Parts: sequence; structure tokens; C-alpha cells
Amino acid sequence: MGKIIVGKKSDMPPGSMQKVAIDGRDILVANIDGNYYACDDTCTHAGASLAEGTLEGGIITCGWHGAKFNCTTGKLEKFPAKIRDLKSYQIVVESDSVFVEV
Ligand code: FES
Repeated sequence: MGKIIVGKKSDMPPGSMQKVAIDGRDILVANIDGNYYACDDTCTHAGASLAEGTLEGGIITCGWHGAKFNCTTGKLEKFPAKIRDLKSYQIVVESDSVFVEV
């Protein structure tokens, strides 16, 4: 499909997460120490929006039941049950604009 603009770097400071809807899919974009990462926003446990959780050291913690995902890879880091990893996406930054490749 190509690259879709998701926002301006200046609107996404380090430590922030933002949910964007692209083609009917919710994608989370996070700024970790000045580097941008994108993965699915929908928790694979019960469907919470991960953008409403917390981000610390590259780990997103789901606000509903505490599943932890690595924001840079989409991999599940910690949860008592076996649930799927998140799909991750490539980010492209051009001047002040942040794009996700889908
Ligand atoms: S919905 Fe995310 S841990 Fe349950």
C-alpha cells in the first residue's frame, strides 16, 4: 500500500504514544528516545487500545490486564497466558514528518 503520514515529529515527544487509524486498522506509533516505532494498537488478549496503556523503556503495558509488549518488535514480553505478538510496521521519518509503511 505504501507509506502513510501519521504526524509531525514535533507533536510526538520522546516517551509518547499515539494511535492512528489506517485503512480500518488501529496502529500505535511510539517515540522511544527519539526513535519511532509502530505496531498494532489492539491488544491481542482482549482488544484494549494499547495507546491507553503505559510506555516505559520500550515496553508497552496494556492498561486492562497488564500484558507487556516490546514496542520495537511487537513481541509479547510478559503475560501469564499465551497470546499473539503484535504486528510491527516500518517507520520512515522525513524532515518533521513521520510515516508508517503498511
Ligand atoms: S486486553 Fe490487554 S492484557 Fe487484557
